[in-house]
Amino acid sequence: MNQNLMDKIVSLCKRRGFIFQSSEIYGGLANTWDYGPFGVELKNNLKKAWWKSVVYQRNDIFGMDAAILMHPKVWEASGHVENFFDLKSDCKGCKKRFKTADLKDAKKCPDCGSELTDSRAFNLMFKTHQGPIEDHSNQIYLRPETAQGMFVNFLNILDSKHPKLPFGMAQIGKSFRNEITPGNITFRTREFEQMEIEYFVKPAEADKYYESWVEDRFNWYINLGINKENIRKRPHAKDELAHYAKACTDIEYSFPFSAAGGSASGRGWSELEGIANRTDFDLKQHEKFSGKSFEYFDDAAKEKFHPYIIEPSGGVDRSVLAFLVDSYYEEKVKDETRVVLKLHRDLAPTKIAVLPLLKNRAPLVELARKITADLKKHFVTVYDDTAAIGKLYRRQDEVGTLFCTTVDVQSLEDNQVTVRDRDTMKQDRVNIEKLREYFTDKLIN
Ligand code: GAP
Repeated sequence: MNQNLMDKIVSLCKRRGFIFQSSEIYGGLANTWDYGPFGVELKNNLKKAWWKSVVYQRNDIFGMDAAILMHPKVWEASGHVENFFDLKSDCKGCKKRFKTADLKDAKKCPDCGSELTDSRAFNLMFKTHQGPIEDHSNQIYLRPETAQGMFVNFLNILDSKHPKLPFGMAQIGKSFRNEITPGNITFRTREFEQMEIEYFVKPAEADKYYESWVEDRFNWYINLGINKENIRKRPHAKDELAHYAKACTDIEYSFPFSAAGGSASGRGWSELEGIANRTDFDLKQHEKFSGKSFEYFDDAAKEKFHPYIIEPSGGVDRSVLAFLVDSYYEEKVKDETRVVLKLHRDLAPTKIAVLPLLKNRAPLVELARKITADLKKHFVTVYDDTAAIGKLYRRQDEVGTLFCTTVDVQSLEDNQVTVRDRDTMKQDRVNIEKLREYFTDKLIN
């Protein structure tokens, strides 16, 4: 049933242009995905909603966009060269590769029962070379997290913005990990996007801000429409913590698959975002490796210290997938099944579709096109006349378009159009001159 739901979502993604297999014409590059016209809108809207809530609506967080390629010393300082390993075992029979942690002490291959190799450590960072000579001295990495791009700019922010604690930095960008077991479409991939905040606080206040960030980030998903029963907070046990963390809580979503494999219900709780107390680990490490002081001077107390860092770190692609799954509904309407993506108004790729009831009536088409052009100045609006009205509605429902505006013969006489709400399917008759005001009220206020 749940795999069925996942199959339906993957099929909708391809059919309607949300997500395509990368390089498909060459047989595809395994576990790599491209976002199509609706997918890129959804993803951009998600990133905009995040940026608005953590940068524009606050006074204490600065936006950043650091380079993917960084000095190799960064990854020595961060501990990634030494610690960013997964243990893997290979099946000697079917050759499938497993994360040792997922095998839960099993001695035989869970798929074919053959013998497994001893587990071996595998560094997850992608290596490449800077410049034309491919030797060790030119080896650099594709960043495995965006976080370090912010830590290495800590002193630049102190010098350019002179902030007082607590303050933070936020950035969205690509990260790369040579994952052993990628899968479940965009859930775990080797190239993905993260949205991360590094929030610098006085050490004595770290616990308080850690708790409040867990609440803030959890509520962000709820406010964007995630069903409450599908999301939860899960504090990490001590033995799960990353090498830099004193505490961490994951915000988990109940995906229609189990990322670690094998669950009776077919659903599995998996991480969407982690909120960690990274202590002063990163600033002290960069101080040690760069020789520069990473201390903050507190004017009021006249003392110097290393701030602690609270880090809410989320995945863009994972969130897009969660919002797609969560908003997918099949509803019986008369004898038909209506498939509808009930995405939040801020996430929906298209806000308004304008549809002429009859495409062979020139005045209707002309009026519908004029309305489209006017609305496009303010809202993401599309025009469509390529099918009968029932089919056009169904297509728009499937991609989550919030309102369908139908221009009919009566519109030519009374200057009104019919606006249909995606979720309630209720229809309003609205004067064409008042459409902008009507949609401003529905989409922005
Ligand atoms: N700076 C901390 C950090 O990177 P993480 O838990 O490894 O923490 C944060 O990653 C988030 O990035 C995860 O919660 C997840 O949403 C996303 N993420 C991590 N690895 C991913 C992968 N291979 N594919 C897709 N998203 C991933």
